[in-house]
Amino acid sequence: MMAEAISLYGGKITTIELDEKVAEQAKKNFERAGVKDQIQVKIGDARTIITDMNEEFDLIFQDVGDKTLYDAMFDDYVRLLKPGGILLAEDALFPVFDFHFEYSYLADMRGSLDAFNKRVANCLSFESTLLPIGDGLMVAVKK
Ligand SMILES: C[S@@+](CC[C@H](N)C(=O)[O-])C[C@H]1O[C@@H](n2cnc3c(N)ncnc32)[C@H](O)[C@@H]1O
Repeated sequence: MMAEAISLYGGKITTIELDEKVAEQAKKNFERAGVKDQIQVKIGDARTIITDMNEEFDLIFQDVGDKTLYDAMFDDYVRLLKPGGILLAEDALFPVFDFHFEYSYLADMRGSLDAFNKRVANCLSFESTLLPIGDGLMVAVKK
């Protein structure tokens, strides 16, 4: 949908993917959909790659599998978003189902997402709201 929008209105998308096979499949999907020229796929660890990025973005959509990275990359979202730019963070309330923290990585993710949500809510650079849709969606606009 984002690619369809920029096909109509202009712009470009940069996406970061750690898994080479997933990235190659994504490239094939973009080609099949006729949007490959509007999308740059960077392959590697988002946490490392984002630190070298300097362009400004209208929108950052965060859905990285390792949810502890949401908080770790927080300063980069503020740095890379234009004023009026939007941060969307998928799964901000993950996991919404009841579980007993028997898997420590889930507890780590939950703790880190709590820290991330609080940082966004308390950040003077953002106006934000947390929507209870699916596993939660953080919506923040940079002032
Ligand atoms: C939930 S999926 C993203 C789905 C995507 N938003 C979509 O709609 O198709 C999470 C992805 O994050 C990738 N990932 C996990 N750790 C990463 C990292 N450190 N850097 C970049 N990508 C990572 C995984 O390989 C996986 O493809």
